[in-house]
Order: sequence, then structure tokens, then C-alpha cells
Amino acid sequence: LRQVDFSTEPQCSVRKHIMRNAMSKQILILPGDGIGPEIMAEGVKVLNVANDKFGLGYELSFDDLGGAAYDRYGSPLADETLERARAADAVLLGAVGGPKWDTIDPALRPERGLLKIRSELGLFGNLRPAILYPQLAEASTLKPEVVSGLDILIVRELTGGIYFGTPRERTTLESGERMAYDTLPYSESEVRRIAKVGFDMAMVRNKKLCSVDKANVLASSQLWREVVEEVAKDYPDVELSHMYVDNAAMQLVRAPKQFDVIVTDNMFGDILSDQASMLTGSIGMLPSASLDVNSKGMYEPCHGSAPDIAGQGIANPLATILSVSMMLRYSFAQVAAADAIEQAVSQVLDQGLRTGDIQSEGCRKVGTAEMGDAVVAALKNL
Ligand code: IPM
Ligand code: MG
Repeated sequence: LRQVDFSTEPQCSVRKHIMRNAMSKQILILPGDGIGPEIMAEGVKVLNVANDKFGLGYELSFDDLGGAAYDRYGSPLADETLERARAADAVLLGAVGGPKWDTIDPALRPERGLLKIRSELGLFGNLRPAILYPQLAEASTLKPEVVSGLDILIVRELTGGIYFGTPRERTTLESGERMAYDTLPYSESEVRRIAKVGFDMAMVRNKKLCSVDKANVLASSQLWREVVEEVAKDYPDVELSHMYVDNAAMQLVRAPKQFDVIVTDNMFGDILSDQASMLTGSIGMLPSASLDVNSKGMYEPCHGSAPDIAGQGIANPLATILSVSMMLRYSFAQVAAADAIEQAVSQVLDQGLRTGDIQSEGCRKVGTAEMGDAVVAALKNL
């Protein structure tokens, strides 16, 4: 650094760049489609307050992903957006997709942009915690005694399996009948690295790991189970069990508290995490973290873009706000700030504020912005 002459213009910007990187973390915000921009506005409010309150010094920048990106760039993930995401220290994402883009070329669908950014950034480890806030026990469609105290973590493999496997094709048989197929591949190393995430998470929790597969039918699941068993040898303190995915779906609603950490493949994790969300009252409460090998991450609510309620200001922003908290915890190790956001959310629920999805008798129904403002107020007062 000392050898650089900062007096000339280009080097000046080099210095600025170096200084900026040394001083502040860059966060790229991708609001996406549908309710994405609405919930993200609240997430950003909360992030800005945490930024000030804890002196975090984060710099925020914004770009498009999904349908919004298709409209602006002609691609659901533009190269320049991907480069920005690579350069950022963390990415915060809303949701993608909507009926407007249902009929475009499948390769350009909004969801493709999401899958591509996950894959290009190597975000193979998807953490989806399903925690029941005690205040919401009544909001779950399950009996309070079945879900009270629920705290499970689904570790979903995010960059492999059937969502990425090739060949995949839609074609027409000689008979004229239409047919299509996908491929479900998993390599040993892909299974091993996600299994390790599962075991590592179990180690810092209640030391119970359930690996979910369909090894009674699928070859990829048979390999999955074999490799998970091998990884288990390095974690003698973790109690490992295996469960077929159909049984796991049943057990999740029968007795969800039997689980601590669940590790599973991309598609099973997609399905089971939506299911688990309803144990907590609403999918509107579920945040997620998607991490690469160095714990660089992208953070997003588990729910989708909910086009049916987009633009009405009624979506639940808490999953996005809790995703901000996960970002502070996992990418930046800002435990105090992350804890504070979660505490603020809890206080707002204590105050009886509820969006429509978690509404129950005796509570006050609020919109997206009012919920976000209440979390901001609680956070400022902590
Ligand atoms: C999710 C979503 C996505 C997925 C879709 C939108 C591609 O359902 O994050 O769970 O399947 O991963
Ligand atoms: Mg999903």
C-alpha cells in the first residue's frame, strides 16, 4: 500500500476501494418480485437501524433479480448483478416469480435467476430454522401442545440434486405423446459437505441429526445414506438417525419436537421446509441462510413472492427481518445485533401486533409497514 502514489486519479479510486473494503462491509439487496419489494423495505429499515445502533458501518446497494431483472436486463440474473453479488460480503434477497413471467421461455423464468445465483455463488448449505415464537402457538394450525417450544433446523442441500441435474428435457415421443424428465444426481463430495454442515449444526444445538432420504427407492439416496454414515464417524457425540422422506413428512406434523436438526437434499428440503413453516404459525415467519464453504451468505425468507397479495401492503415482513438477523449472525458474527433484532420481533409479537397470516383473536391486525415500524421502534428502545 505504501508504494502507491495516491495523488493521481485512478490510484485514488484504488485507495478508496481498498479503504472501503477495509472499513465497511458491502451488502447487496435484491428485493425481487411480488411482495419482495414490500417486505424488503421493512428489512432494510431494520438493517439501517441496527447499522446505526451498533455502529456496523455496512454499505447497502440495490439491484434486481427474477422477473424484475428479466424486465430490466432481459435475464433473470444479469451478469453485472452476479458480479455485484460476488463482490458483496453478503446478499439479502426478497422473493422471485409471478404470473407475469409464467409464459416466458422456461430458461428465463424468474426462478432460474434464483437457482443460478445460488449455484454461481456456491451456496450449497441452506439453513432453515423453524422456531415457534410462544406468542404464536395459537396461530399454528396444529394443537399448541404439539408445537409449543418447537425449535428445529432444516439443513437443505441447495446447489445439487434434481433442481440442477442434467439431462433435463421436454420432448415428444414418436407416438406424438409429450414427455419430460429430470435427473437427480449427487456426488459423494456434495453429500459429504452438506452432511458436515448438518453435524456441525447439531453439535452447537441438541446433538441430534436426522438425515432424510428415499433410500428404499432412489440410488442417489442410497449413496446419500452411505456417505452420511461415513461422516458420522467424525461426530461420535451426535445421535444420527435416518428417515424416509414420506415418513418424515408424517412425523413433522405428528410429533415435530422429536427433531433437532434435519439434513436433506434439495427437493426434499424445499418441500419439508414449507411444511415445517406451518408448525410455526406461518411461512411468513421463516428466514433462511444460504452459505458457501467460507460462510459467505445470501439471506432470504423461505416464502415466495405471493403475487396474490402483492402491492396490498399486507404481507408479513418478519421472515425478511429475521433473515437480516441471520445475516448479522452468520456472515458478520454480530451476535449482539442479531439477538437484538430477534428480541425486537418478540416484543412486537408480545404487543399483540399481527399481520393477516398470523392473526388470532384478541390481536391487532397490522400491515407490512406498520409491522416493520414496530420492530424498528422496539429495536431503537432496546
Ligand atoms: C425456495 C423456493 C425456491 C426453491 C423456488 C422459488 C425456486 O421455493 O426457496 O424454497 O425451490 O428453492
Ligand atoms: Mg420452497
